[in-house]
Amino acid sequence: MIVKALEDKSALVTGAANGIGAAIAAAFCRAGARVVLVDRDEDGLRRVQASLAGDGPECIALACDVSKPGEIEACVKKALAAAGEIDILVNNAGGSGPTPALDIEEIEESTWDYVLDLNLKSTFLFSRFVVPGMRRKRYGRIINMSSTLKDGLAGPLNTINARLPYATSKGAIVSFTRQLAKDLAPCGITVNALAPGLIHADADARIARRYMSLDDAGRKSMMAAIPAGRPGSGEEVAGAALFLASPASGYITGDTLMISGGI
Ligand SMILES: NC(=O)c1ccc[n+]([C@@H]2O[C@H](COP(=O)([O-])OP(=O)(O)OC[C@H]3O[C@@H](n4cnc5c(N)ncnc54)[C@H](O)[C@@H]3O)[C@@H](O)[C@H]2O)c1
Repeated sequence: MIVKALEDKSALVTGAANGIGAAIAAAFCRAGARVVLVDRDEDGLRRVQASLAGDGPECIALACDVSKPGEIEACVKKALAAAGEIDILVNNAGGSGPTPALDIEEIEESTWDYVLDLNLKSTFLFSRFVVPGMRRKRYGRIINMSSTLKDGLAGPLNTINARLPYATSKGAIVSFTRQLAKDLAPCGITVNALAPGLIHADADARIARRYMSLDDAGRKSMMAAIPAGRPGSGEEVAGAALFLASPASGYITGDTLMISGGI
């Protein structure tokens, strides 16, 4: 008999309709988890749900704008009603917002708030609403999405919009992860973060399309900054997420795992 790493587990993955989140959802589903796909992109949710039919337990799709705190508690309630429990939470939804602004003088307060709410507050709120069930079971896995941008980045970069609030939120996610890990370690719940570098989850992923829109010199300078000389794939992030989501990683908590080709 083949034992699947996430058999009998339920997982909620935010930002699961595209990119890295869709790759993580696919890996979890194939590992035997019942996956709750959360995203604001309803067409994308349907697409991912259909693509995973037959690969594992049926996925549940829930529309939610994670930058709107009011929608998060309702989303978790629906997820619990549909899946029974959430053993694994992946706070993946995030980004640098729709407004290109590298210099601090260009960054509106509304952009700052949006990027912090999207990346950081959503991570706090999903965790807050999922942890009570994990505490009762004395088991849980929380995986938060940071970025190599947590340490800042010099020079222009065309795949990032509002870089300052984005770097701030991804740095804060590392601190959030470390503190929550210490708070929850006695309850059998681990909390870790992933810090990807440049990831082209698939050829049509948003970041891959933006990279392809750069001129030759722009692409070369981005690749020159990556020791591995290539972007990572969605599967390469999903593999790390699968390990951190599985019982095998039970003594690892508070860590941030770089997935960056050596950056
Ligand atoms: N791709 C990279 O190079 C890279 C590098 C480092 C970190 N990350 C992080 O990984 C995560 C996923 O990135 P990606 O490249 O797959 O992005 P993506 O843009 O391809 O996918 C993000 C997904 O999140 C969803 N989303 C965005 N805003 C949302 C909102 N307000 N409510 C609900 N859903 C929302 C989108 O609809 C989409 O399905 C993000 O947190 C990102 O910051 C990505």
